[in-house]
Amino acid sequence: MIKAIRGTRDLLPPDTALWNFVESTVRDVFRVYNFHEIRTPIFEETALFSRAVGEETDVVSKEMYTWEDRSRAESEKGQSLTLRPENTAGVVRAYIEHKLETRGLNKLYYIGPQFRRERPQKGRYRQFYQIGAEMLGPPSSGSESPARDAEILELLANLLDRLGIEGWTLQLNSVGCPSDRARYNEALRKALEPLAPKMCSDCQRRAVTNPLRVFDCKVPEDQPIIETLPRISEYLDDDCRNHFEQVQALLKAVGVEFHISDRLVRGLDYYTRTAFEFTHGALGAQNAILGGGRYDGLSESLGGPKAPGIGFAIGEDRLVLALKQPAESVQPKPDVYIAPLGDGMNREAARLARELRNQEVIAELGDESFRLKKSFEIASKLGARYILIVGENEVKAGAFALKHLESGEQVTIARAELGQKIRAAKS
Ligand code: HAM
Repeated sequence: MIKAIRGTRDLLPPDTALWNFVESTVRDVFRVYNFHEIRTPIFEETALFSRAVGEETDVVSKEMYTWEDRSRAESEKGQSLTLRPENTAGVVRAYIEHKLETRGLNKLYYIGPQFRRERPQKGRYRQFYQIGAEMLGPPSSGSESPARDAEILELLANLLDRLGIEGWTLQLNSVGCPSDRARYNEALRKALEPLAPKMCSDCQRRAVTNPLRVFDCKVPEDQPIIETLPRISEYLDDDCRNHFEQVQALLKAVGVEFHISDRLVRGLDYYTRTAFEFTHGALGAQNAILGGGRYDGLSESLGGPKAPGIGFAIGEDRLVLALKQPAESVQPKPDVYIAPLGDGMNREAARLARELRNQEVIAELGDESFRLKKSFEIASKLGARYILIVGENEVKAGAFALKHLESGEQVTIARAELGQKIRAAKS
């Protein structure tokens, strides 16, 4: 038997109702913040991710699904392609390619699958879904302002509240600008010199190539050593410090609580200044429900114009795990089960179903081969509100027996009034 690949999974009803509930709430929130949807390809040139996310990151060095695409001509080399492990790089590529700087500040969102070859466990999959947003544009569009950072963070707090998710924590940090980072990396490199030989092989390499990535280490024995390393907060210049203070003041003004976490550097290389994660206690080891931050130099590093930006991505799989509602509570149930009774009644029932569905009634259609008892059983199992009997006499009379399944109350209703009667019971 062929099964879904390890780390991927099928999403089935009724669970998909929760996913739809999340996605429609999210689209409503994006609408009132004036964000618009962007859809970028699921695979891109490998170089996009290695340049944007960084060669030394776990995502690029260990987790990408990369293959060489067949070349068209014998002499031509195949192109290296990668299933997107995240969507910020693709959005910035599209920004550059379509010259979106002419539009001023771009406020874009996406919902879709991402792929990372991580060790599967609860809340961690090899195909997972992100709901993300990016706000970027030329500096003249206000894209660099701390007001944008606060707006994004307030949007997220609002979104989690609207979804009924309680008990989240916003972890906030500033990772500084490239010149701060250079000084900080130097300090880290020095501090790591005597320590690295006692650390895991990944950290020994990172200590030389990209010391900031030492903070991504998950090896328990390395953690006490990492705890002694210098903190980025001590290396911020005045502009970055001031930017970060303004973000915090704005968050206080709009009433969004946060914790400063000066060990939070995020696992991707493009971040500058504000970096953040929202964590949630119910999620166990994979407790980051979402992450994001600024990436003021990313466009230039991909050959584009200066385009400061900030964004986030929510792990939709994790968000769904944190919801309190059971799937059944958001899964719509049929308003009516239409039971054709006797030969030739499938045609009449189909006609009625068409009329009712055009009036927004959720109708499930039975079959004339079913006995009435069986139709009742199916209708109850589906949780239908009403059952509607369609027999020869009813069709002739132009009036139908409509039975409320829970109360047992039965009424005879004229064909023209059926839709209204069934819909009235909804509200
Ligand atoms: P990230 O922190 O790598 O950031 O991923 C964002 C979120 O995606 C995580 O917090 C987590 O909820 C979810 N996630 C990541 N990997 C997995 C996985 N294997 N299984 C399930 N969920 C997962 C980014 O991707 C950045 N592009 C976010 C961003 C946008 N920064 C600026 N703009």
